[in-house]
Formats: sequence, C-alpha cells, structure tokens
Amino acid sequence: MEFKRTSALKGEVTVPGDKSISHRAVMFGSVSEGTTEITNFLNGADCLSTIDCFRRLGIEIETMPKQILIHGKGLHGLKKPNHILDVGNSGTTTRLLCGILSGQPFESIVDGDASIRTRPMKRIITPLSQMGAEIASLHGNDCAPLRIRGTHLKSIAYVSPVASAQVKSAILLAGLYADGETSVTEPALSRNHSELMLNYFGADVTTHNTTVTIQPDPVLVGQKVNVPGDISSAAYFIAAALTIPHSEILIKNVGINPTRDGILRVCKAMGADITLENCSYGNGEPTADLLVRYTPNLKATVIGGDLIPTLIDELPMIAILACFADGTTIIKDAQELKVKESNRIDLVARNLSAMGAKVIATDDGLIIEGGYPLHGAAIETKYDHRIAMSFAVAALTADSVTQIDHAECVNISYPDFYHHLASLTGKQN
Ligand code: S3P
Repeated sequence: MEFKRTSALKGEVTVPGDKSISHRAVMFGSVSEGTTEITNFLNGADCLSTIDCFRRLGIEIETMPKQILIHGKGLHGLKKPNHILDVGNSGTTTRLLCGILSGQPFESIVDGDASIRTRPMKRIITPLSQMGAEIASLHGNDCAPLRIRGTHLKSIAYVSPVASAQVKSAILLAGLYADGETSVTEPALSRNHSELMLNYFGADVTTHNTTVTIQPDPVLVGQKVNVPGDISSAAYFIAAALTIPHSEILIKNVGINPTRDGILRVCKAMGADITLENCSYGNGEPTADLLVRYTPNLKATVIGGDLIPTLIDELPMIAILACFADGTTIIKDAQELKVKESNRIDLVARNLSAMGAKVIATDDGLIIEGGYPLHGAAIETKYDHRIAMSFAVAALTADSVTQIDHAECVNISYPDFYHHLASLTGKQN
C-alpha cells in the first residue's frame, strides 16, 4: 500500500477498544458464572482468536455489532476441545490461555501462525510446570505448538525474570486453580488489567510493590465491561499530530491506566503539546480524551528502566517520533522488543534507515539522532501490525512515496486504522 506526505490532521477520532482488556473480558467472562456483557470490544483478529478458542472450550459467545455476550460456565465448566486451539497471531491469547488450561482436567493443544511459532514460551512453561501442569513444546523448541495436560495445581511464589503481563497473567489465572495462594514478583510492574478485572469479577488479588498475589478458587461472577479505547492505537495519531505542521486532533475515550501511559510521560518529557480532558473511570480503568497539537520543537529524551513495560508496544512509534526531536534519543532496557510479533529493534532500525533517519540498533534498544528529514522508502513489516501503523505515520511526513508491504496486517489490532487516518487528513482512501 502507498502513502504520501499529508497536510495537517484535524478533527476527532475514537480509537477501538483496548486489546489487552478485550482479551481478558472474554477469558474471565468464560470462567465466571452467568453472563458477561462487553461493549466497545476490539473486533481485531487477535481478540477474535480468543473468542474462537473459548467457543472450542464449550463457551457460548454471542457477537453483535455493539455488544458481546459471554455465557460463562464458572471456573470448572470448560470442556475438552475436540480440535486444536488456534490462537492465530496472538501472544496474549497463547500465554493467558495456557494459564487457564493448566488447571483443567483435560489435555489440549495450542497452536498459531508462523509468528506465534517463534515466540518464546519457556517463560510460561517454567512456572506452569512448577505448578504441576505438563506442558510440551511439540517441536521441542520451547515455542508453539504446545500440548497442555492440566491438573489440580500447586501454588507457587514465582519470581519472574521478565516484566511481562502475559507471564504474570498466565500464572495468576493458573493460581485460580491452585491449592493455596499464588504470587508473582516482576522486575518492574507490567500492565495490571488482569488484577483489576479479576477483582471486578470477584477474585481476591492484591499488589505490593511488584508482587501480585491471588487467592484460589473464588466464585467469579459475570459483569458488564465497557472497554476503554486502546492507548496503543492512540499512539499513532498522537505521533502524527505532533509531527505534522498545524495539526490539532481530539482522540476520544483513551485508556490512561498508569501501567500503560508511558507514551504520555515520554511525550511530556519531549515537550509535546497534549492536554487531557474529560478524565473519568469505568470498571477500575481510567480514561480521558487527548487533545494533541503539532509541536515543532520536540526534545530528545532517554527511555529505559521501569518505564519500558508501560510503553513497550508504543516503542516503534516513539522511535519514529524521536526522528523529529532535537538531540539524541536513547531507548534502552527494551530487549523484549526482539520477541514481539517481529524483532522490532531490527525492523524499526532497518526501515528508519531506509527512510534516511540516523538510527543505531543496540542489544536492548535504539539510539536515534533527530533532525534528519524522512524520505519515502519500501517498508518491510514482516506482517507486524505495529510496524505497519508506525511507518504509515512516518510516511505522512516523508518527501516522497512510501510503500508498505502486507499493510493489511493492521487487522490484528485496528481494522479501521487507514480509514481513521484518512478521515483525519481529509483524504478518504
Ligand atoms: C500484553 C502484554 C505485553 C504487550 C502485548 C499485550 C497483554 O506483552 O506487548 O501486546 O495483554 O498482557 P508482554 O507481557 O509479553 O510484555
């Protein structure tokens, strides 16, 4: 797909529901008693994979244009699937599902696409095996396909080597089926949507510093979940408005949970003109409208440490934003970028270099020297939705045409992305 330089972005946009929260609403609703009603659910391919897996586990799920109804069967009501559970491209589905399957009295097989088959699963195999589940990587490489034989689990106090909400959530979900209290300690706090939503459904989850503890065998009860807009999706419009002269946009109803708002903190450090309006709360999750205005003199910054888990998915976009800042931006402590839907350190560095940016890939991040204008280029996405969206935004500022391969991969998290972008630039595609 081709992209060209555009004039100012103007108007309002409502980004789709948060991906992490949409997955969790389906999963937690499935293992709750009664009906869970989800509004503003993200209809992206990843979340549809979660729905498909839970249907195969015997849960009745009604999908309507404005609402999803999950007819939960309680903690012990899932049935043995008679087919593999296909998670598609979704790491969240894979890892959280494995946590739940570890506590089931049956065997199941979890598999996904070519990218999922390269994502590291040892990080969940290790703790879930310590709890007593039998998990085999069928190709012997610690990746999917995975065969899970569930059992009545033992509780653990796990110290995780990575700050990963997927790992933490997998263990907490297994902890629902354990014989005592289960805890996970992370090196830095990752997104806490599981903790908030499990408590909302009736579980007992507490957090002290970076340790999260869950009590076993609660009665979970179906709830109404209104999913806030996804800040990871808002990131593309934030960056576009900050870098394209004369832009001024309002991004409505964006989730600003402090474990996810790192992009706002980085933008503030860069001197960006962003104002939060209409701040409110729903299901324990804070939201706001974001008024974003073009900011001509962004400053470089250093991004690392505990900040990284709060903006991990936004780093490709932030790296591009850094090209517009005065000075050298350093992104460090972000090794996790290498094991996302693609190796995002490598791909961002290669694509940005192709566009004429001054960028160096390091072992744990990127170093970007701002102030070099971007040129059009051929962008390789490796089917990674966040690479496609980030470079679609970069292309809007470039002085010649940019070609993005497999641009349709945005369907993973934001099927209407190009349409929404075009509506803000006044051009319909
Ligand atoms: C997610 C957690 C993050 C994030 C992913 C969604 C989640 O992954 O990158 O897009 O919903 O828990 P890690 O937990 O692997 O860091």
